[in-house]
Amino acid sequence: MDNYDFGVVGLGVMGRNLVLNIADHNFAVAGLDLDTEKVALLKHETDDGQKTKGTNSAGEFVALLSAPRAIMLLVPAGKAVDSAINSLVPFLSPGDIVIDGGNSYFPDTDRRVAELGEKGIHFFGMGISGGEQGARFGPSLMPGGDKQAYERLRPVFEAIAARVNDEPCVSYLGNGSAGNYVKMVHNGIEYGIMQLIAESYDLMKRGLGFSDDQLRDTFESWNHTELKSFLIEITAEILNKKDDDSDVLLVNLISDRARAKGTGKWTSQNAMDLQVPIPVVDMAVAMRDMSAYKEERIQASALLKREVPAGAVPDHQQAAEQIKNALYFAMITVYAQGFAQLHVASKTYNYELNLQDVARIWRGGCIIRATCLEDFRKAFYKAPELPNLLLDADIAKVLLSTMEDTRSVVKLAVDGGIPLPAFMASIAYFDAYRSARLPTNLIQAQRDYFGAHLFERTDREGTFHHYWY
Ligand code: 6PG
Repeated sequence: MDNYDFGVVGLGVMGRNLVLNIADHNFAVAGLDLDTEKVALLKHETDDGQKTKGTNSAGEFVALLSAPRAIMLLVPAGKAVDSAINSLVPFLSPGDIVIDGGNSYFPDTDRRVAELGEKGIHFFGMGISGGEQGARFGPSLMPGGDKQAYERLRPVFEAIAARVNDEPCVSYLGNGSAGNYVKMVHNGIEYGIMQLIAESYDLMKRGLGFSDDQLRDTFESWNHTELKSFLIEITAEILNKKDDDSDVLLVNLISDRARAKGTGKWTSQNAMDLQVPIPVVDMAVAMRDMSAYKEERIQASALLKREVPAGAVPDHQQAAEQIKNALYFAMITVYAQGFAQLHVASKTYNYELNLQDVARIWRGGCIIRATCLEDFRKAFYKAPELPNLLLDADIAKVLLSTMEDTRSVVKLAVDGGIPLPAFMASIAYFDAYRSARLPTNLIQAQRDYFGAHLFERTDREGTFHHYWY
């Protein structure tokens, strides 16, 4: 007994894959699940030479682990995390570490850090990205918690994480809920990029009449350009996948109602609390909501039908090139919005995030991994306190060189009646951010007119009220 290096609670697909990944790196791993079938599956999937042991008894599980114990929970966010913690606590000792590897809401993590802290137990919230494959062969890991306690976890996490340029895609991010917060924003960016890709697909398919083959070839070719990323790569693969029972592309048979587990919404909600504008993410969340209004959209599609005025059909190759550039532009702005949110959150919640590290660990393993993350890493290396990536001279150059194509793409979509709200939010954000003067002077005047809310002047110090009527 007492000689397993690491424990995992929850032996579902993610949990089992993570156990096997850890065991691949010569750590002895114990697993706990109340479901004996899952415990049996772990035994079945474990290879010779890997040291794993599964059990359905919390007491036995804890007793297997070497002190200070390191236990990772891979259970659904919410009540299941508290239940798992409560089942372990009677057997734990001061100095032990419990890590929540789910997409937990960050205030819950702060509460758990405080509650377990009273018992001398360290609680970590850790974002894990990369899905099933990532868990098995190398995820991106975003841990937050007590800095000293992290040293106990570091060898395991550095061994199992994805690697880019031989650097592991894991770094201690900060205290409290820093890890869950960074993962939440990762998911907000994920929502934004997925929406932008879906809009590009819609414009090409519905707006410009690209064939299924052309769509697949376009995304496939984009993955050999500056757009190279996991989400573009899987889009090309999806556009190549036929239904099992027919000759139709599977994606053409999938319902257009998108589901969501909540991390994108939390990102937008919290950005509003922090007063950080992230309109591309907001639009992505809103469009998932819009997708749910299927019956109303069907009614409206008849009532609000519009004949698209006849015009010259743009050359497909040229249009695809412009859309590629626009997508790159918009992708950069969604990352910029996410990093700007992290910049403010780090100060507000005292996370002390190092944004260069965040960009570094997002280069591999995670869903938003993309070649451009190396450019963002460099920007934060040059200026660790950069409030917005749009202020980096090299990134500004890229945005200026793709800006006109973005405008053309948005105009093309508006003329054709194809909704491109995330692209529109992207170019509008860019234009607003580069406006030294916004029309908010008028809003100040209106507020003062109807509510005597006062205003500041450009030519004098102080606050003023005017008797407007
Ligand atoms: C990841 C993913 C993962 C999950 C999303 C899906 O990084 O591996 O983001 O966490 O697939 O939570 O989120 P929605 O269900 O909200 O789209």
